[in-house]
Amino acid sequence: MQAAIKARVEKKEGSKSSISHRTFQINVANQLVPSELIGDKSNQQALISGWARLVTRLAVVSDEIATQQQQTIPETSYDELVSSPSPELIRRIRQCGSVVIHGTVPQNQVAMSFLILPKALKWLEETKEYIKLNPRVKGFPEDDKQVYEVYWSKPQQEARSHPQMIKTQAALLGIFTAPPQCQVSLTTPLVYADRLRIRTPGDATFALGPHMDGGSIERWEDLSYRKVYEKILQGRWEEFDAWDIENRTNAIQDLYPGPGSTGVFRSWQGWTSLSETGPNEGTLLVYPFIKEHTAYLLMRPLFKPKHERSEFKDDKDFLAPDNWELDFESTNFPGSPPYRNQELNDETHPHLELLRTMVRMPKVYPGDSVWWHSDVIHAVESKHQGKIPASVFYIPAVALTARNAEYIRDQRATFHSGRPAPDFPGGTGESDFVSRGTGDDLLTVEGREGMGLVPFQLTDGLSEGELQVRKAANAILGF
Ligand SMILES: [Fe+2]
Repeated sequence: MQAAIKARVEKKEGSKSSISHRTFQINVANQLVPSELIGDKSNQQALISGWARLVTRLAVVSDEIATQQQQTIPETSYDELVSSPSPELIRRIRQCGSVVIHGTVPQNQVAMSFLILPKALKWLEETKEYIKLNPRVKGFPEDDKQVYEVYWSKPQQEARSHPQMIKTQAALLGIFTAPPQCQVSLTTPLVYADRLRIRTPGDATFALGPHMDGGSIERWEDLSYRKVYEKILQGRWEEFDAWDIENRTNAIQDLYPGPGSTGVFRSWQGWTSLSETGPNEGTLLVYPFIKEHTAYLLMRPLFKPKHERSEFKDDKDFLAPDNWELDFESTNFPGSPPYRNQELNDETHPHLELLRTMVRMPKVYPGDSVWWHSDVIHAVESKHQGKIPASVFYIPAVALTARNAEYIRDQRATFHSGRPAPDFPGGTGESDFVSRGTGDDLLTVEGREGMGLVPFQLTDGLSEGELQVRKAANAILGF
């Protein structure tokens, strides 16, 4: 049953701060069951043939990933990405959904006291100093912190607003497409204040299994979000474009706000490395074919196996298209409970063969960055087997939309008070910390705009949609 309801979302301690009491209109399909998405006879036929093509393709992709490993993840340099990305590089990024950018912040040397350090290492040293100066800092796990609840240190402010960071984010946002009238600006990255990790060798506490951010059941339940995946739900998954941003700007990703959820559309998740970190050293893993895994995730609840896995000697026979049929009875969306991000494993999503298809990030050095599209399945290695701490600043790339501007307005208030950013656990945060960052630590005008400290410029040459969204954002921010 379709119903339009007015929802008031109160963010809870432990998931989001109490500062954001957002009110918005949600079109929600109450108690949605998978069979409602299966449609009429013609859609059923399209789904059946699309599913057969998809699982055949996934078997090929699994072999390719298992053989090629890190080579499935495109790597580039800051200079290439920003000045002259080849069509082949863009094609590979669009196919994979993730990318490593070497030298995102310069490798040139910066003097610090008597030490000469690359900029990213200087940021790490300053971060450690900030933590030392403020021993009440919170983190996870409490007794051996790996992820710190630090949002407002000077080096984080510098990193988020560094001119090369801004240009990198704009180049990445430019891989998305939007029609001219769409109210989004892909040339205006916002500053999203996230935490940092200093993962010590041997740590096995900060492991995360395969998951997708951006909510779970919302992908089917919120009608705008569902529209993003319309082609897939019509069985025409090959025509699905993960990079078309139009419907994503209105999608509600947090119908059920819980830990890790956000109302912000983070077009790219990302981190900037402050250390040399390679495979098995506590790094990120991704599934490197975004179209295929997204199509599978969306279609999976609509199908069930005719015979269970235990009935076959060979897994290939269990996974074969002729062992699967449309499921008109199920009430379940596998791995998609409300209030959580989408989870996937080898039981719930067997055709992804996640045990052999989640690929570790290639080796990175201080100043390199790693990015993954908001739909990409990702995980964190269960154990850090390296010799030095694997350290990163979490810095995503967030496009300007009206909804994202509302978040920036709320985030600006937390910045001024030193409290945690609105998407994160509340409390006093860094409000009484020594040596906290200020607006003066933002290195660029784009950084100050992205933080909502100055109005967005209404320059010549903007598309109609970009101009409108900048004006709307300035009004939301009180300029
Ligand atoms: Fe995640």
